[in-house]
Amino acid sequence: MASVGVLPFIFLVLVVECSARPLYPLPSKTNRQPLQTFRPFNIAHRGSNGEIPEETAAAYLRAIEEGADFIETDILASKDGALICFHDVTLDDTTDVAEHKEFADRKRTYDVQGVNTTGFFTVDFTLKELKTLRVKQRYPFRDQQYNGKYQIITFDEFISIALDAPRVVGIYPEIKNPVHINQHVKWSDGKKFEDKFVETLKKYGYKGSYMSKEWLKQPAFIQSFAPTSIIHISKLTDLPKVFLIYDVTMPTEDTNQTYWEITSDAYLDFIKDYVMGIGPWKDTVVPVENNYLQTPTDLVARAHARNLQVHPYTYRNENSFLHLNFSQDPFAEYDYWINKVGVDGLFTDFTGTLHKFQEWTSPFSHDDNESALLHKIASMVSKYRKH
Ligand SMILES: *[C@@H]1O[C@H](CO)[C@@H](O)[C@H](O)[C@H]1NC(C)=O
Ligand SMILES: *[C@@H]1O[C@H](CO)[C@@H](O)[C@H](O)[C@H]1NC(C)=O
Ligand SMILES: *[C@@H]1O[C@H](CO)[C@@H](O)[C@H](O)[C@H]1NC(C)=O
Ligand SMILES: *[C@@H]1O[C@H](CO)[C@@H](O)[C@H](O)[C@H]1NC(C)=O
Repeated sequence: MASVGVLPFIFLVLVVECSARPLYPLPSKTNRQPLQTFRPFNIAHRGSNGEIPEETAAAYLRAIEEGADFIETDILASKDGALICFHDVTLDDTTDVAEHKEFADRKRTYDVQGVNTTGFFTVDFTLKELKTLRVKQRYPFRDQQYNGKYQIITFDEFISIALDAPRVVGIYPEIKNPVHINQHVKWSDGKKFEDKFVETLKKYGYKGSYMSKEWLKQPAFIQSFAPTSIIHISKLTDLPKVFLIYDVTMPTEDTNQTYWEITSDAYLDFIKDYVMGIGPWKDTVVPVENNYLQTPTDLVARAHARNLQVHPYTYRNENSFLHLNFSQDPFAEYDYWINKVGVDGLFTDFTGTLHKFQEWTSPFSHDDNESALLHKIASMVSKYRKH
């Protein structure tokens, strides 16, 4: 693989290896490029799932490569209490479970948040069994070539991907369907799903309030649609929490409160003592009719007035998701939400697209200094050494 272009670096290898001290800062976990905090957060929704099947290691690695500030995940549990990264309570839509004859008798119907749901539930499989499945792409119009290649990963494995990243990359885990999980999974120590979730974060050193020194070292946001879970975990950790808000027709999954109630001034005044932000569905912030945006609500203004950040979900490149005002241009959508609505973070299926938009419109001050240049050369040299 050696080419002429690489030859000049051989000299540098010699210089570096002969000197007593490296000329460049060695990449290390204590000296990584910090989290950017000067522009809205790029939150990689289930990894770079627009390209690679959701919630897999490959999707998260791709998102980190593409410039994610945070990698986002949904935490559910297996029958034996392992915390896993998976979105749906059933395995049917994004794995090959239907092709596993040995599991044919596991199909069940449970009442999940008032809806009778039939399928293969994560809570009826041990972690070992879940690891025999392979994940597939959710949408037929996305790249299918990775189907069948990747396993479901655990919360622990997800965290190690973030901690091993070449720069500081935050994590953004959701306590998914806590009512359902606590109904079906029992831990031997009598603890609840929420306790296990926080224990895992603590095990890896995640702690500290928003923008504290500890938090900036290992940034994390905890998200949930369930106010009961948020209030419970606020007693266990001071990590920042984000209250998720669904579509206007959906009641909360645990307290059965209406959308009108949980977005009222009185409720925002109550929840702001527990959370640093809200994560609303974007069509809830700016209603949509016939695929056209309507008059925006005042939700962002009312949240900002209470010093709450707003991180809407989910931004997707495809025509089928882009409202017609944006002329089929995802950059136009980002421009609207960042520069007109003024949100503080965006959950996106296409981290690379959002990153490019932000680099073009609000770039980092590029590190063209000597130290940064040597760092770049050093990483090229180390690539050459491996061949
Ligand atoms: C779910 O199915 C059971 C059994 O068929 C039925 O009794 C119950 O009313 C159903 N619940 C809902 C919410 O549809
Ligand atoms: C939730 O509240 C609605 C009314 O707001 C009520 O009709 C429904 O039965 C409640 N559901 C549960 C599970 O309490
Ligand atoms: C989107 O298009 C609709 C229909 O033309 C228009 O009424 C609305 O004001 C537009 N919204 C924005 C934010 O451009
Ligand atoms: C030079 O670049 C490095 C690596 O990106 C950065 O840590 C450092 O702060 C920069 N120094 C100056 C003086 O800008």
